[in-house]
Amino acid sequence: MNTYFRILSYARPFRQHVPLYILCATLAILFGLLNFTLLKPLFDVIFKQADPDELLAYSVYPEFEPSINYLNHLFNYYLIEATEIYGAFGSLVYVCLIIVTSVFLSNLFTYISGVILARVRAKVIKRMRMDIFEKVSTLHIGYFSDERKGDLISKITNDVQEVENSVVQSLKVIFKEPATVILYFAVLFAMSFKLTIFTLVLIPISGGIIGYITKKLKRRALQSQESLGRIVNILDETISGMRVIKAFNARKYIVGKFDKETDFYSKVNISMAKKNEAAGPISQFFGVSVVAGILVFGGSLVLANESPLSPSAFLSYIIIFTQILIPTKEISRALSSIQRGLASARRIFAVVDTETKIQNDPKAIQISGFDKSITFNSVSFSYEQDVVLSDINLTLEKGKTIALVGPSGGGKSTLADLVPRFYDPTVGSILIDGIDLKQIDIDSLRKQMGIVTQESILFNDTIFNNIAFGMTDVSQEQVEHAAKIANAHEFILKLENGYETNIGERGTKLSGGQRQRISIARAVLKNPPILILDEATSALDTESERLVQEALTNLMQNRTSLVIAHRLSTIQHADEIVVIEKGRIIEKGTHEALLANKGLYHKLSNMQSFQ
Ligand SMILES: Nc1ncnc2c1ncn2[C@@H]1O[C@H](COP(=O)(O)OP(=O)(O)OP(=O)(O)O)[C@@H](O)[C@H]1O
Ligand SMILES: [Mg+2]
Repeated sequence: MNTYFRILSYARPFRQHVPLYILCATLAILFGLLNFTLLKPLFDVIFKQADPDELLAYSVYPEFEPSINYLNHLFNYYLIEATEIYGAFGSLVYVCLIIVTSVFLSNLFTYISGVILARVRAKVIKRMRMDIFEKVSTLHIGYFSDERKGDLISKITNDVQEVENSVVQSLKVIFKEPATVILYFAVLFAMSFKLTIFTLVLIPISGGIIGYITKKLKRRALQSQESLGRIVNILDETISGMRVIKAFNARKYIVGKFDKETDFYSKVNISMAKKNEAAGPISQFFGVSVVAGILVFGGSLVLANESPLSPSAFLSYIIIFTQILIPTKEISRALSSIQRGLASARRIFAVVDTETKIQNDPKAIQISGFDKSITFNSVSFSYEQDVVLSDINLTLEKGKTIALVGPSGGGKSTLADLVPRFYDPTVGSILIDGIDLKQIDIDSLRKQMGIVTQESILFNDTIFNNIAFGMTDVSQEQVEHAAKIANAHEFILKLENGYETNIGERGTKLSGGQRQRISIARAVLKNPPILILDEATSALDTESERLVQEALTNLMQNRTSLVIAHRLSTIQHADEIVVIEKGRIIEKGTHEALLANKGLYHKLSNMQSFQ
C-alpha cells in the first residue's frame, strides 16, 4: 500500500487538475445514468405500463425535495404533459432526443476526463523517469559494478512503462469507477431496497475470487520484470561484444543463453496471462450469475406483487444493474494491472532509495584551487572482503609527477580512483592541501582534476561535444586549441564533417589512439591543476603512442600529475616512481635510484628492455 501512495505522491504537483477531473467524471456518470433512468418513464407513461393511480399522482407538479424521487416525479410530470400535447409518439421522440443528448454529453465528459488523466499520467511518468535517472547519475561508482547494467536499463524503461500502464488504470479506479458503482447503486437502492441488499450479498463472493487471482499475479510480475532485465543485459553484452563473439565462434553459446532466458520470460508471461485473462471471463461469469440470481429473486417479488417494484421498474432495475458490471469489471482488471505496476514500482523505488555511499558532507567546504599537496595517510581499501590496498603513505607535491608502476592487479587504478573520491578509503584518510577529501564538496574537488582512464570513454555525439563534454559556453577556438595540444586537430580535420563528425557509439568510428587523443583534448580543455592518467598509452602502436605521449607531455606541463604506466620508458622522468605490488608500496624513488636498488623496478625494467 505504501508503494501505491508513493506512486500517487508523484501526482501531487498536478492536484489542481483534480476538481475539474472529478467534475467531468461525475457529469459523465450522471448523464450516463440519466439514459437508463429514462427507461422506466418510457415504459410507464408512453407505453402506459404504470398503474392509473400512479400516473394520476405524476400529473401533479411535485414539491421540491433533494431526492431521486423528486427528479423522477418532475420528469414524469413533464412527460405526461408532453404526451397530452404531442401525443405518445411525439413524447417518444422527445425522450429519445434527451437520451441522445445525454449520451453525447456523457461521452464528451468521459473524453475530457480521460484527457486530463492522460496529461497527469504523462507528467507523473516523466517525473518518475527523471527521478530514477537522476538517482542513477548520483550513485557512487561502486554501485555500477554490483548492479547489472541491463537490469538498470530495464528498470528505467520497462518498469516505468509498466507503472505508466497501471497508473492510468488506478487513477480511474480511485474515482471514476467506484463513483459510478456508488451512484448506480444509489439509484438501485431508491428503486428497491430489498432487492439491492440481496445483490450486495452476492457481489463480495465474486469479488473474493477475483482478489485471489490478483494476489497470485503479484509474484509472477516481479519474476517477469527481473527476467526482462536479464534479457536486456544479454543484448547489451552481445551488441558491445560482437567482435569477440564472432572471433571466438561463441554465437551458439550466446544464442543459447538468450534462448534460455527468453524461454523463461515467455513461460512466466504465459502463466501470468492465464491468470490475467481469467479475471475478465470469471468476473463476467459471476456478474451474469448475479444477474440471474436477481432475476429469480426480484422476479419472484414482482410476481408475488410483494414489492413496490412494477414490472417496468424491475426491467429498468436489471438494465441499470448490468451497467454496474462494466465499471466493476474495470476495477477488477485494474486490480491485476496495478499488481504488475506495483511490482515494477518497487523495483524503481529500490534504486531511488539506494543510499549514495559517496556523499557531500552537510558542512562540505568548497575548494577553488590546488596549492600544496595531496597526501595519503595510512590508506587501506577493499572493494569487498579482500584487501586491495594496504597502508599506503604517499605525498604528491604541487607541480610534481608521481608514477605508479607494478604488476597487473596490484591496485594502481584503485589507488587513482580514491583521489577524485570515486571510492572512500576503508582505513586512513586522503588530504588535499591538508583537508580531508570527505570534508570537501565533491563537485569542487573533481573540478580540480582531469582524468584520462584506461579505456577512453567517449559518447555517441560529435567530436566537438565530446571534447567540450559537460562544459557550457565553450568556443570553437578553445576546442580546436585543446585538440591541437592533444595532437588531435589534424586527424579531426580529415574527418568527413570535421569537429561536427559523429563518432558513433562509444567512439567506435575512431582508432584507439584517436579516441585517446580526444580524451586528452577533453582534459586539456578542462585545464585542471591535477591530472590522473591511467595507462593512456598501453594499447597503441609506436607511431600512435608517440603522438599520444607527446599530447600527454603537453598536457602535463605545469600541472601536478599522478600517472599509471606499464611502459616504464614513458615515466623515467617522473619526480617519484612508486612501485606497487599486491596493494602495498614496495619501492619508491627516482628512476636512477630504483635501478640502483635492484628491486622489482629493476626487474620490470630489464624485462621491458627486451621487448
Ligand atoms: N570494482 C571492483 N570490485 C571488486 N574488486 C575489484 C574491482 N576493481 C578491481 N578489483 C580488484 O582489485 C584489485 C586491484 O585492481 P586494480 O584495477 O586497481 O589493479 P591495477 O594495478 O590497476 O591493474 P592493471 O595494471 O591490470 O590495470 C584486483 O585484484 C581486482 O580484481
Ligand atoms: Mg589498472
